Amino acid sequence: MHDIVRQYIDHPEMTKEEYILLLQQEEDPEAREAIRREALRLCRKYYGNRVYIRGLIEFTNYCKNNCYYCGIRRDNRNVNRYRLHADEILSCCREGYALGYRTFVLQGGEDPYYTDERMCALIRQIKAQHPDCAITLSIGEKEKETYQKFREAGADRYLLRHETADETHYRSLHPPEMLLSHRKQCLYDLKELGYQVGAGCMVGSPGQTLANLADDLRFMADLQPEMVGIGPFIPHHDTCFRAEKAGSVKRTLYLLSIIRILLPKVLLPATTALGTMDEHGREKGLLAGANVIMPNLSPEKNRKDYSLYDNKICLGGEAAQSIADLKKRVESVGCRIVTDRGDARTEPLAREEQEE
Ligand code: 5AD
Repeated sequence: MHDIVRQYIDHPEMTKEEYILLLQQEEDPEAREAIRREALRLCRKYYGNRVYIRGLIEFTNYCKNNCYYCGIRRDNRNVNRYRLHADEILSCCREGYALGYRTFVLQGGEDPYYTDERMCALIRQIKAQHPDCAITLSIGEKEKETYQKFREAGADRYLLRHETADETHYRSLHPPEMLLSHRKQCLYDLKELGYQVGAGCMVGSPGQTLANLADDLRFMADLQPEMVGIGPFIPHHDTCFRAEKAGSVKRTLYLLSIIRILLPKVLLPATTALGTMDEHGREKGLLAGANVIMPNLSPEKNRKDYSLYDNKICLGGEAAQSIADLKKRVESVGCRIVTDRGDARTEPLAREEQEE
């Protein structure tokens, strides 16, 4: 096994060249296993075998952006556009609460219908009805003043994947009016406003090199996000990337472990995209250092229309039933679902809790 693996485990902040060398070890099963075991050790140290569940509410698929990889991009005329109204969203929360969810993730395209005022009113209503729950927003790039209003209305966390930290690669995935510098600025603004912040990227997006991923790691080391969302890129048939190859499960798992070592206390979801690429992708994610799962709480009738990529799994059936299924899956890899808010930890668990 290459020395870089031991070096990373001992000192995870490294140069770009060293990260590239580390990423090249994906081909060595021994290196992969060493990284995975260390990731799992750290995950147990801070979180034991707890897996946090977040209720994902995909409340609008209108989007003013035109990202080349995304199925709900503005120019895709084949999307059946929908937006949920406040009462529907509140009823998703109510249903979720009864099932044990204590975090609601409001995710949507960048939809101008949801003005600052409408969003703030919605956040306040959810908080009034569920004061013990955390609200995570995932609605894209806004001005700092807007993020501040959302924060004052009660939002706790914000997910905004940076998508790629490399300027040239960013350009190849996004239209000219979108700027990597603005996206990064948003993440730093959110941190400053006291949000728990989630960054992240797709694995295997078109044109992505190991050097790009090395830059992603350097960016995350600098930002120190509380959450990181990564999943394989999956082509969508209505986008320019329809004929591109999907990202690999193996590389995604390797990166999950690398990120757990880089940011030991991070909240790291085993994503829907990972579960879409592999029937047991999310369980494998939990064994690679992930500790969050984000099941879909959106109304059944809208789920198929939030199609970021092809064949996206959206747990069918009644919500309570899918929770029972999820519990079984999580337990099959020695973990357990917990239903507290699951904020990012700052200290290791007491020893007896680590081993529970
Ligand atoms: N494949 C995988 N992930 C995608 N996303 C958007 N389109 C795709 C795709 N084709 C991810 C982006 C975005 C998140 C909401 O979904 O990383 O930030």
